Amino acid sequence: TEFVSANDLAALMDVSVNDVIKVCMQLGMFVSINQRLDAEAITIIADEFGYNVDFITSEEEQGLEDIVEENEEDLEERAPVVTIMGHVDHGKTSLLDYIRRANVTAGEAGGITQHIGAYKVKTESGRTITFLDTPGHEAFTAMRARGAKVTDVVIIVVAADDSVMPQTKEAINHAQAAGAPIIIALNKIDKPTANPDKVREELAQMNILVEEWGGKYQSQEVSAKTGLGIADLLEKVLLEAELLELKANPERQAIGTVIEASLDKGRGYVATVLVQTGTLQIGDVVLAGSHFGRVKAMTDHRGKKMKEAGPSTPIQLLGLDGAPQAGDKFVVMDSEREAREIASNRSQVQREQSLRTRKHITLDEIGRRL
Ligand code: GTP
Ligand code: MG
Repeated sequence: TEFVSANDLAALMDVSVNDVIKVCMQLGMFVSINQRLDAEAITIIADEFGYNVDFITSEEEQGLEDIVEENEEDLEERAPVVTIMGHVDHGKTSLLDYIRRANVTAGEAGGITQHIGAYKVKTESGRTITFLDTPGHEAFTAMRARGAKVTDVVIIVVAADDSVMPQTKEAINHAQAAGAPIIIALNKIDKPTANPDKVREELAQMNILVEEWGGKYQSQEVSAKTGLGIADLLEKVLLEAELLELKANPERQAIGTVIEASLDKGRGYVATVLVQTGTLQIGDVVLAGSHFGRVKAMTDHRGKKMKEAGPSTPIQLLGLDGAPQAGDKFVVMDSEREAREIASNRSQVQREQSLRTRKHITLDEIGRRL
């Protein structure tokens, strides 16, 4: 609560900050726009505007702080989480498919591959990488808008027989804004018309200078068709990941992010989540956005049942009472009652916000018509 300014409060109530300050003055409180308001002041001011204030102290925030406050000796190395982005038809899906097919471990081959939007692979050197198969830039943007940081490394695919395209630039901007290191995959190198130097040149023009040319960006010529260069690409991903020193505490209660969720006719609400720290277990009470539930079952991308899922593991889980949104944080909580309460408070806030937005739109439209 101590982080709410007069400006924040005005935005929350959808009124002008001048009105808030005016009301404060009438109440004998002199506040400036960016002044932090205490809980009492917030309650009084909100009341003047006809709002009741719920102060939610969510365990989520505590959970997030815990990540930072984790003891160094509890931390273990975790697999990097990688997203592949690039222009339409440059080969994102083909590359993901090749990696998934080529890196199934013994005993997995022939299994039914479910589309769960995320999976873990083992590289030739025996290490693990988690791939997020985001449906596109929009999903990535939506997740970032919710403050979700799920990707450690971004692979930007550019077809070597084509050029740096608008969506290539957009993808690079997204990755840079998210602070994720970029690796360039120059795809379709098997094609006789491939001209990777032309692409390197275009990238250089936008300040993405690859290592071979003295820059800082790793790049790799690949073919998602023949598999050429893909093992090397994965090793470069691991190299980049090493620099990041990715760690998590597998012993704590799980915290992570919702990748996607939907209602399945047969199974109920199904959520694909990425465990980012801790270990998720069957029976855990999970709070995810404005939904909660006990984990009834977990499966990996091959539909194999799992009892637990550690850091950097994507899984599908059953047991939530609704479908949270992509990018929503999930946390494991001790008390089901508390999880239910926070979930219902959040639903309430969402409902109120959508009502307020509607009211706002109506007024605005009337204004325009006059
Ligand atoms: P969108 O999902 O539509 O944005 O495309 P994408 O980036 O996922 O591309 P996709 O993997 O669907 O590949 C587009 C086309 O390029 C398909 O016809 C692929 O077969 C072909 N293709 C992808 N990679 C290669 C490659 O390395 N070599 C060759 N010759 N063709 C490729
Ligand atoms: Mg695709």
